[in-house]
Amino acid sequence: MAASSQLEEKVTTCVSIGATYEGRDPALLERMLPLVDYIEVTPETIAEAKGSRISLSKEVMSELKNISSEVKFIVHGVGLSIGSHDGWSPTYFHLLDEFLDQIAVAWHSEHLAYTKVDGEHLGIMLAMPKTDEALDMICERVTTMQERYKLPFLLENVVHVIPDAPSDYSDAAFLNELTKRTGCGLILDAYNLECDAHNHGFNIPRFLDELDMTNVRELHVARGVEDNGFLLDVHSQIAASSTIRLAQDVVSQAEGNAKVVVYEFMPEAVPGLGYDAIAEQLGCLRAAFRN
Ligand SMILES: [Fe+2]
Repeated sequence: MAASSQLEEKVTTCVSIGATYEGRDPALLERMLPLVDYIEVTPETIAEAKGSRISLSKEVMSELKNISSEVKFIVHGVGLSIGSHDGWSPTYFHLLDEFLDQIAVAWHSEHLAYTKVDGEHLGIMLAMPKTDEALDMICERVTTMQERYKLPFLLENVVHVIPDAPSDYSDAAFLNELTKRTGCGLILDAYNLECDAHNHGFNIPRFLDELDMTNVRELHVARGVEDNGFLLDVHSQIAASSTIRLAQDVVSQAEGNAKVVVYEFMPEAVPGLGYDAIAEQLGCLRAAFRN
């Protein structure tokens, strides 16, 4: 597997560029729009509580509808908890239904993870145990998503916060089996892989050698901070060049199936980053991924 030596080196396939956007920052949106092909929206981040009911913000939805002729949309949820043994989130389905009723998307995605156990919210995403039992459950739920929405559905690798439980599969073999059985696609988050390598000695080259990268439809690049030697999955920085090179490597081996690279950042990080740096990052990604 040949590593790209420079970011300026063009990958052989033209990959679109996306960015996360949570609404209510029209000046940021104006800077980003000329530089992105896709806006990635997380329904939960634009949801508001109205009494006991949770609903998407009308203000943000109208902001998104106003740019629908200029950009395509993808949905990336965080609250489905597809891996909870006792059931996934009905609230997420409600928000996704509401979004898809109003805005057309190219595909939607979630995380291969669980965020609640026995009905208790963990406040964090934990990676799935890679067992046959977990695989059967996830495959059944992916099929339900595909039949319900008739849209491509992708799952993303999350960081490993705690050590793995005993497994029947390697990380790559679990993903290969999941995609083979269901036909779902993958998001590969290059920064999450780097976090795992830093925090747990995860072997990225071995993982990529084993992974069927033709199932990767979307890449994520981001950067967080290190705390007590632990690299945190917070999206507060401009992506490191190593992260972009890793994403380039995957794109070049995905045989044209990787369609979008998304730069992920939190709205809370915008004042510190500044609009110029975000625009520069998106320009850098265009140079790195688009012919
Ligand atoms: Fe991600």
